[in-house]
Amino acid sequence: MAKILVTGGAGYIGSHVVKLLGENGYEVLTYDNPSIGHKWAVLYGDLIKADLANKETLRKVFKNLSLMQLCILQLLLLFQKVLKIL
Ligand SMILES: NC(=O)c1ccc[n+]([C@@H]2O[C@H](COP(=O)([O-])OP(=O)(O)OC[C@H]3O[C@@H](n4cnc5c(N)ncnc54)[C@H](O)[C@@H]3O)[C@@H](O)[C@H]2O)c1
Repeated sequence: MAKILVTGGAGYIGSHVVKLLGENGYEVLTYDNPSIGHKWAVLYGDLIKADLANKETLRKVFKNLSLMQLCILQLLLLFQKVLKIL
């Protein structure tokens, strides 16, 4: 199954997205600086502590992911499955 990158995953909305993805068997990678978010809020997968403005770290993250998919597409499919909408 695809690994999904969640930016801001240690924050309010992001941590719920990480939890929902994890509970549904998705592999998750969280990227957060974390200026506002908290490590303890990331319940699934790894947390990369870096700023989105850090091009070098972003480059490494994208390079190491074997498969990247558009997060929004994954989320739509997930919400469709979980909430039975669309
Ligand atoms: N009711 C509550 O208890 C509660 C708690 C938190 C937030 N909220 C509300 O929900 C809204 C939406 O929450 P949200 O999840 O969009 O915001 P958030 O601030 O909770 O999450 C944003 C995340 O992005 C991270 N981040 C910010 N800039 C970054 C950067 N440059 N690089 C990497 N990471 C970065 C932060 O560390 C944080 O973890 C908030 O604006 C607030 O109004 C409510």
